[in-house]
Amino acid sequence: MRVRGKNYRAVWMEGGDVVVVNQPLLPHKFELLRLKNHKQTAEAIRNMTVRGAGTIGATGAFGLAQAALNISERSMYPFMTRIGKAYALLRDARPTAADLAHAVDRVWFAMADALRTSEGVRPIEAMRRAAVGRANQIAREYVERGESIARVGLKLLRSGSRILTHCNAGWLALVDWGSAPAPIYLAHHKGRKVFVWVDETRPRNQGANLTSWEFLQEGVPHKIIADNAGGLLMQRGLVDLCIVGADRIAANGDVANKIGTYQKAVLAKEHGIPFYVAAPSSTIDPKCPSGAKIPIEERSEEEMHFVWGKDGSKLTKVRVSPERARAVNPAFDITPAKYVTGIITESGVYKPKDIRKAVK
Ligand code: MRU
Repeated sequence: MRVRGKNYRAVWMEGGDVVVVNQPLLPHKFELLRLKNHKQTAEAIRNMTVRGAGTIGATGAFGLAQAALNISERSMYPFMTRIGKAYALLRDARPTAADLAHAVDRVWFAMADALRTSEGVRPIEAMRRAAVGRANQIAREYVERGESIARVGLKLLRSGSRILTHCNAGWLALVDWGSAPAPIYLAHHKGRKVFVWVDETRPRNQGANLTSWEFLQEGVPHKIIADNAGGLLMQRGLVDLCIVGADRIAANGDVANKIGTYQKAVLAKEHGIPFYVAAPSSTIDPKCPSGAKIPIEERSEEEMHFVWGKDGSKLTKVRVSPERARAVNPAFDITPAKYVTGIITESGVYKPKDIRKAVK
Protein backbone atom coordinates (compact mmCIF):
# COMPACT_ATOMS: atom_id res chain seq x y z
CA MET A 1 0.00 0.00 0.00
CA ARG A 2 1.04 3.58 -0.51
CA VAL A 3 2.55 6.06 1.90
CA ARG A 4 2.84 9.49 0.35
CA GLY A 5 2.57 7.85 -3.06
CA LYS A 6 5.27 5.17 -2.48
CA ASN A 7 4.50 1.45 -2.07
CA TYR A 8 5.47 -0.24 1.18
CA ARG A 9 4.91 -3.51 2.99
CA ALA A 10 4.64 -3.78 6.78
CA VAL A 11 7.71 -6.06 7.01
CA TRP A 12 10.46 -7.44 4.79
CA MET A 13 13.99 -8.80 5.02
CA GLU A 14 17.19 -7.12 3.82
CA GLY A 15 20.30 -9.27 4.19
CA GLY A 16 20.30 -10.33 7.84
CA ASP A 17 18.02 -7.49 8.97
CA VAL A 18 14.26 -7.55 9.38
CA VAL A 19 12.80 -4.17 8.40
CA VAL A 20 9.43 -3.15 9.87
CA VAL A 21 7.18 -0.12 10.00
CA ASN A 22 7.45 1.27 13.54
CA GLN A 23 3.71 1.14 14.22
CA PRO A 24 3.47 2.84 17.66
CA LEU A 25 4.71 6.09 16.08
CA LEU A 26 1.79 6.19 13.64
CA PRO A 27 -0.12 8.25 12.61
CA HIS A 28 2.27 11.00 13.68
CA LYS A 29 5.51 9.69 12.22
CA PHE A 30 6.24 7.14 9.49
CA GLU A 31 9.50 5.42 10.39
CA LEU A 32 11.16 2.17 9.34
CA LEU A 33 13.04 0.18 11.95
CA ARG A 34 15.88 -2.29 11.29
CA LEU A 35 15.86 -5.28 13.61
CA LYS A 36 19.40 -6.64 13.72
CA ASN A 37 18.88 -10.05 15.32
CA HIS A 38 16.09 -12.47 16.18
CA LYS A 39 15.95 -11.29 19.81
CA GLN A 40 15.16 -7.75 18.67
CA THR A 41 12.62 -9.19 16.23
CA ALA A 42 10.89 -11.23 18.95
CA GLU A 43 10.81 -8.20 21.22
CA ALA A 44 9.27 -6.06 18.44
CA ILE A 45 6.45 -8.63 18.18
CA ARG A 46 6.00 -8.83 21.96
CA ASN A 47 5.92 -5.08 22.55
CA MET A 48 3.73 -4.48 19.46
CA THR A 49 6.20 -2.39 17.47
CA VAL A 50 4.81 -4.75 14.82
CA ARG A 51 1.32 -6.07 15.28
CA GLY A 52 -1.62 -7.63 13.47
CA ALA A 53 -2.01 -11.37 12.93
CA GLY A 54 -0.43 -11.69 9.48
CA THR A 55 2.33 -9.18 10.06
CA ILE A 56 3.45 -10.89 13.26
CA GLY A 57 3.32 -14.20 11.36
CA ALA A 58 5.58 -12.89 8.61
CA THR A 59 7.83 -11.11 11.13
CA GLY A 60 8.19 -14.31 13.17
CA ALA A 61 9.06 -16.22 9.99
CA PHE A 62 11.68 -13.63 9.01
CA GLY A 63 12.98 -13.68 12.61
CA LEU A 64 13.66 -17.40 12.43
CA ALA A 65 15.33 -17.03 9.02
CA GLN A 66 17.39 -14.20 10.51
CA ALA A 67 18.43 -16.45 13.39
CA ALA A 68 19.47 -19.17 10.91
CA LEU A 69 21.63 -16.63 9.04
CA ASN A 70 23.14 -15.05 12.13
CA ILE A 71 23.97 -18.14 14.19
CA SER A 72 27.57 -18.63 13.22
CA GLU A 73 28.05 -22.18 14.60
CA ARG A 74 29.55 -24.51 12.03
CA SER A 75 28.75 -27.80 13.70
CA MET A 76 25.27 -29.21 13.85
CA TYR A 77 24.63 -29.74 17.55
CA PRO A 78 25.34 -26.15 18.75
CA PHE A 79 23.54 -24.75 15.69
CA MET A 80 20.42 -26.82 16.43
CA THR A 81 20.48 -25.89 20.13
CA ARG A 82 20.58 -22.18 19.33
CA ILE A 83 18.07 -22.26 16.48
CA GLY A 84 15.70 -24.28 18.69
CA LYS A 85 15.83 -21.52 21.32
CA ALA A 86 15.17 -18.85 18.67
CA TYR A 87 12.19 -20.87 17.38
CA ALA A 88 10.62 -21.03 20.87
CA LEU A 89 11.26 -17.34 21.59
CA LEU A 90 9.65 -16.18 18.34
CA ARG A 91 6.73 -18.64 18.38
CA ASP A 92 5.72 -17.62 21.92
CA ALA A 93 6.14 -13.86 21.50
CA ARG A 94 2.32 -13.42 21.41
CA PRO A 95 -0.29 -16.09 22.16
CA THR A 96 -3.62 -15.38 20.44
CA ALA A 97 -3.00 -14.97 16.71
CA ALA A 98 -2.82 -18.38 14.99
CA ASP A 99 -0.63 -16.91 12.27
CA LEU A 100 2.48 -16.47 14.41
CA ALA A 101 2.87 -20.11 15.42
CA HIS A 102 1.70 -21.23 11.99
CA ALA A 103 4.32 -19.17 10.13
CA VAL A 104 7.21 -19.94 12.51
CA ASP A 105 6.36 -23.67 12.28
CA ARG A 106 6.41 -23.50 8.48
CA VAL A 107 9.93 -22.07 8.49
CA TRP A 108 11.00 -24.71 11.02
CA PHE A 109 9.60 -27.55 8.86
CA ALA A 110 11.26 -26.09 5.76
CA MET A 111 14.59 -26.24 7.60
CA ALA A 112 13.91 -29.82 8.71
CA ASP A 113 13.15 -30.83 5.09
CA ALA A 114 16.33 -29.12 3.90
CA LEU A 115 18.34 -31.02 6.49
CA ARG A 116 16.97 -34.33 5.20
CA THR A 117 17.58 -33.56 1.55
CA SER A 118 20.74 -31.47 1.66
CA GLU A 119 22.78 -33.52 -0.79
CA GLY A 120 25.76 -31.66 -2.17
CA VAL A 121 25.26 -28.61 0.09
CA ARG A 122 26.48 -28.24 3.67
CA PRO A 123 23.41 -29.05 5.82
CA ILE A 124 23.50 -25.81 7.84
CA GLU A 125 23.79 -23.79 4.65
CA ALA A 126 20.86 -25.71 3.15
CA MET A 127 18.77 -24.93 6.26
CA ARG A 128 19.63 -21.23 6.06
CA ARG A 129 18.57 -21.02 2.43
CA ALA A 130 15.36 -22.95 3.10
CA ALA A 131 14.47 -20.67 6.02
CA VAL A 132 14.94 -17.47 4.02
CA GLY A 133 13.04 -18.93 1.06
CA ARG A 134 10.09 -20.07 3.15
CA ALA A 135 9.88 -16.78 5.10
CA ASN A 136 9.77 -14.81 1.86
CA GLN A 137 7.12 -17.19 0.52
CA ILE A 138 4.98 -16.66 3.64
CA ALA A 139 5.14 -12.87 3.27
CA ARG A 140 4.28 -13.16 -0.44
CA GLU A 141 1.30 -15.39 0.37
CA TYR A 142 -0.13 -12.77 2.74
CA VAL A 143 0.00 -10.24 -0.06
CA GLU A 144 -1.63 -12.61 -2.56
CA ARG A 145 -4.29 -13.72 -0.10
CA GLY A 146 -5.13 -10.12 0.81
CA GLU A 147 -5.65 -9.37 -2.87
CA SER A 148 -7.88 -12.43 -3.25
CA ILE A 149 -9.88 -11.44 -0.14
CA ALA A 150 -10.39 -8.06 -1.80
CA ARG A 151 -11.85 -9.72 -4.92
CA VAL A 152 -13.96 -12.23 -2.96
CA GLY A 153 -15.36 -9.58 -0.60
CA LEU A 154 -16.06 -7.04 -3.31
CA LYS A 155 -19.40 -8.64 -4.14
CA LEU A 156 -20.66 -7.74 -0.65
CA LEU A 157 -20.20 -4.02 -1.27
CA ARG A 158 -22.28 -1.73 -3.45
CA SER A 159 -22.01 1.97 -4.14
CA GLY A 160 -23.25 3.71 -1.01
CA SER A 161 -22.36 0.87 1.42
CA ARG A 162 -21.62 2.08 4.93
CA ILE A 163 -19.29 -0.39 6.65
CA LEU A 164 -18.32 -0.56 10.31
CA THR A 165 -14.91 -2.00 11.14
CA HIS A 166 -13.00 -2.60 14.37
CA CYS A 167 -9.29 -2.36 15.15
CA ASN A 168 -6.74 -2.51 12.32
CA ALA A 169 -6.83 -5.40 9.90
CA GLY A 170 -5.29 -3.35 7.08
CA TRP A 171 -1.94 -3.61 5.34
CA LEU A 172 -0.03 -2.83 8.54
CA ALA A 173 -1.62 -5.92 10.11
CA LEU A 174 -1.18 -8.32 7.16
CA VAL A 175 2.01 -7.29 5.28
CA ASP A 176 -0.01 -5.65 2.46
CA TRP A 177 -3.67 -5.15 1.44
CA GLY A 178 -5.08 -6.47 4.74
CA SER A 179 -8.20 -8.55 5.35
CA ALA A 180 -11.29 -6.55 6.47
CA PRO A 181 -10.34 -3.37 4.56
CA ALA A 182 -9.14 -5.20 1.41
CA PRO A 183 -12.59 -5.35 -0.30
CA ILE A 184 -13.13 -1.72 0.77
CA TYR A 185 -9.91 -0.62 -0.97
CA LEU A 186 -10.89 -2.47 -4.12
CA ALA A 187 -14.43 -1.05 -4.13
CA HIS A 188 -12.96 2.42 -3.64
CA HIS A 189 -10.41 1.93 -6.45
CA LYS A 190 -13.27 0.81 -8.70
CA GLY A 191 -15.13 4.05 -8.00
CA ARG A 192 -17.86 2.62 -5.73
CA LYS A 193 -18.76 5.23 -3.14
CA VAL A 194 -18.16 3.29 0.06
CA PHE A 195 -17.92 4.85 3.51
CA VAL A 196 -16.38 3.38 6.68
CA TRP A 197 -17.11 3.87 10.38
CA VAL A 198 -13.79 3.20 12.14
CA ASP A 199 -13.98 2.11 15.78
CA GLU A 200 -11.22 3.87 17.72
CA THR A 201 -10.43 0.53 19.47
CA ARG A 202 -9.33 1.25 23.01
CA PRO A 203 -7.03 0.70 24.75
CA ARG A 204 -4.31 0.99 22.07
CA ASN A 205 -6.46 2.83 19.52
CA GLN A 206 -5.44 0.82 16.47
CA GLY A 207 -8.57 2.06 14.66
CA ALA A 208 -8.02 5.77 15.36
CA ASN A 209 -4.24 5.59 14.90
CA LEU A 210 -3.72 3.06 12.12
CA THR A 211 -6.90 2.25 10.17
CA SER A 212 -7.78 5.92 9.76
CA TRP A 213 -4.18 6.69 8.67
CA GLU A 214 -4.23 3.85 6.12
CA PHE A 215 -7.56 5.01 4.70
CA LEU A 216 -6.28 8.60 4.45
CA GLN A 217 -3.27 7.40 2.39
CA GLU A 218 -5.66 5.78 -0.10
CA GLY A 219 -8.38 8.45 0.09
CA VAL A 220 -11.09 6.11 1.45
CA PRO A 221 -13.92 8.19 3.02
CA HIS A 222 -14.34 7.32 6.72
CA LYS A 223 -14.98 8.73 10.18
CA ILE A 224 -13.56 7.57 13.52
CA ILE A 225 -16.16 6.73 16.14
CA ALA A 226 -15.87 6.00 19.86
CA ASP A 227 -16.05 2.27 20.56
CA ASN A 228 -19.40 2.85 22.24
CA ALA A 229 -21.03 4.65 19.30
CA GLY A 230 -21.71 1.66 17.03
CA GLY A 231 -25.01 0.75 18.70
CA LEU A 232 -26.54 4.17 18.16
CA LEU A 233 -25.38 4.28 14.53
CA MET A 234 -26.91 0.85 13.91
CA GLN A 235 -30.17 1.91 15.59
CA ARG A 236 -30.31 4.96 13.32
CA GLY A 237 -29.87 2.82 10.19
CA LEU A 238 -26.42 4.22 9.41
CA VAL A 239 -24.56 0.89 9.16
CA ASP A 240 -25.19 -1.51 6.24
CA LEU A 241 -22.68 -4.19 7.19
CA CYS A 242 -19.75 -4.87 9.50
CA ILE A 243 -16.44 -6.36 8.37
CA VAL A 244 -13.75 -7.14 10.93
CA GLY A 245 -10.51 -9.11 10.86
CA ALA A 246 -9.58 -12.14 12.96
CA ASP A 247 -6.63 -13.37 14.98
CA ARG A 248 -7.74 -16.99 15.21
CA ILE A 249 -10.77 -18.84 13.89
CA ALA A 250 -11.68 -22.10 15.63
CA ALA A 251 -12.91 -25.19 13.76
CA ASN A 252 -16.53 -24.47 14.78
CA GLY A 253 -16.38 -20.93 13.33
CA ASP A 254 -15.92 -19.04 16.63
CA VAL A 255 -13.70 -16.00 16.04
CA ALA A 256 -11.04 -14.35 18.22
CA ASN A 257 -10.47 -10.72 17.33
CA LYS A 258 -9.54 -7.48 19.08
CA ILE A 259 -11.43 -6.86 22.32
CA GLY A 260 -14.77 -5.18 21.57
CA THR A 261 -15.55 -7.20 18.43
CA TYR A 262 -18.06 -9.43 20.24
CA GLN A 263 -20.16 -6.45 21.34
CA LYS A 264 -20.42 -5.23 17.75
CA ALA A 265 -21.44 -8.69 16.51
CA VAL A 266 -24.25 -8.98 19.09
CA LEU A 267 -25.48 -5.48 18.24
CA ALA A 268 -25.35 -6.23 14.51
CA LYS A 269 -27.52 -9.34 14.98
CA GLU A 270 -30.00 -7.37 17.09
CA HIS A 271 -30.34 -4.87 14.24
CA GLY A 272 -30.37 -7.42 11.39
CA ILE A 273 -27.04 -6.13 10.02
CA PRO A 274 -24.71 -8.67 8.31
CA PHE A 275 -21.52 -9.26 10.29
CA TYR A 276 -18.58 -10.54 8.23
CA VAL A 277 -15.12 -11.66 9.33
CA ALA A 278 -12.30 -11.47 6.78
CA ALA A 279 -9.11 -13.50 7.20
CA PRO A 280 -6.58 -15.52 5.23
CA SER A 281 -6.78 -19.31 5.68
CA SER A 282 -3.61 -19.18 7.83
CA THR A 283 -5.76 -17.63 10.60
CA ILE A 284 -7.99 -20.72 10.77
CA ASP A 285 -6.90 -23.19 13.42
CA PRO A 286 -8.58 -26.51 12.55
CA LYS A 287 -7.01 -28.15 15.62
CA CYS A 288 -8.80 -25.72 17.94
CA PRO A 289 -12.34 -27.05 18.43
CA SER A 290 -14.02 -23.86 19.70
CA GLY A 291 -13.44 -20.33 20.95
CA ALA A 292 -13.27 -21.58 24.53
CA LYS A 293 -9.87 -23.12 23.71
CA ILE A 294 -8.34 -19.97 22.20
CA PRO A 295 -5.74 -18.40 24.51
CA ILE A 296 -6.64 -14.78 25.24
CA GLU A 297 -3.65 -12.49 25.70
CA GLU A 298 -3.73 -10.42 28.88
CA ARG A 299 -1.68 -7.27 28.36
CA SER A 300 -0.24 -4.83 30.83
CA GLU A 301 -2.66 -2.58 32.67
CA GLU A 302 -0.39 0.32 31.66
CA GLU A 303 -2.19 0.27 28.30
CA MET A 304 -5.41 1.17 30.14
CA HIS A 305 -3.92 3.90 32.31
CA PHE A 306 -1.98 5.77 29.63
CA VAL A 307 -2.65 7.02 26.11
CA TRP A 308 -0.11 8.21 23.56
CA GLY A 309 -0.70 11.30 21.47
CA LYS A 310 0.88 14.33 19.89
CA ASP A 311 1.31 17.52 21.89
CA GLY A 312 2.42 20.18 19.42
CA SER A 313 5.36 18.49 17.72
CA LYS A 314 6.10 16.12 20.60
CA LEU A 315 4.78 12.56 21.11
CA THR A 316 3.55 12.34 24.69
CA LYS A 317 2.15 9.71 26.99
CA VAL A 318 -0.54 10.92 29.38
CA ARG A 319 -2.27 9.22 32.28
CA VAL A 320 -6.08 9.05 31.99
CA SER A 321 -6.96 7.17 35.19
CA PRO A 322 -6.41 7.95 38.90
CA GLU A 323 -2.84 7.25 40.05
CA ARG A 324 -3.82 4.38 42.34
CA ALA A 325 -6.50 2.80 40.11
CA ARG A 326 -6.01 -0.79 38.92
CA ALA A 327 -7.17 -2.14 35.55
CA VAL A 328 -7.48 -5.38 33.60
CA ASN A 329 -6.62 -5.58 29.95
CA PRO A 330 -7.73 -8.65 27.98
CA ALA A 331 -6.60 -7.93 24.42
CA PHE A 332 -9.04 -10.16 22.48
CA ASP A 333 -12.55 -11.55 22.75
CA ILE A 334 -14.43 -14.44 21.20
CA THR A 335 -17.37 -13.89 18.89
CA PRO A 336 -19.45 -17.09 18.81
CA ALA A 337 -20.11 -18.45 15.32
CA LYS A 338 -23.86 -17.78 15.61
CA TYR A 339 -23.21 -14.02 15.32
CA VAL A 340 -21.07 -14.33 12.18
CA THR A 341 -22.88 -14.07 8.83
CA GLY A 342 -19.90 -15.24 6.79
CA ILE A 343 -16.13 -15.57 6.79
CA ILE A 344 -14.38 -14.01 3.79
CA THR A 345 -11.19 -15.89 2.88
CA GLU A 346 -9.00 -15.96 -0.21
CA SER A 347 -11.01 -18.88 -1.61
CA GLY A 348 -14.58 -17.69 -0.96
CA VAL A 349 -17.13 -16.64 1.65
CA TYR A 350 -17.88 -19.49 4.05
CA LYS A 351 -20.61 -20.08 6.61
CA PRO A 352 -18.80 -20.29 9.99
CA LYS A 353 -19.84 -23.94 10.40
CA ASP A 354 -18.10 -24.76 7.08
CA ILE A 355 -14.86 -22.91 7.79
CA ARG A 356 -12.77 -26.11 7.85
CA LYS A 357 -13.38 -26.35 4.09
CA ALA A 358 -11.26 -23.19 3.61
CA VAL A 359 -8.13 -24.92 4.96
CA LYS A 360 -6.03 -26.57 2.27
O1 MRU B 1 -3.16 -6.76 19.18
P1 MRU B 1 -3.06 -6.53 17.70
O2 MRU B 1 -3.10 -5.10 17.29
O3 MRU B 1 -1.93 -7.33 17.10
O4 MRU B 1 -4.42 -7.19 17.24
C1 MRU B 1 -4.65 -7.76 16.07
C2 MRU B 1 -5.56 -6.89 15.34
O5 MRU B 1 -5.15 -5.89 14.84
C3 MRU B 1 -6.97 -7.20 15.21
O6 MRU B 1 -7.50 -8.04 16.11
C4 MRU B 1 -7.34 -7.42 13.77
O7 MRU B 1 -8.69 -7.24 13.60
C5 MRU B 1 -6.93 -8.75 13.23
S1 MRU B 1 -5.29 -8.77 12.70
C6 MRU B 1 -5.40 -9.11 11.03
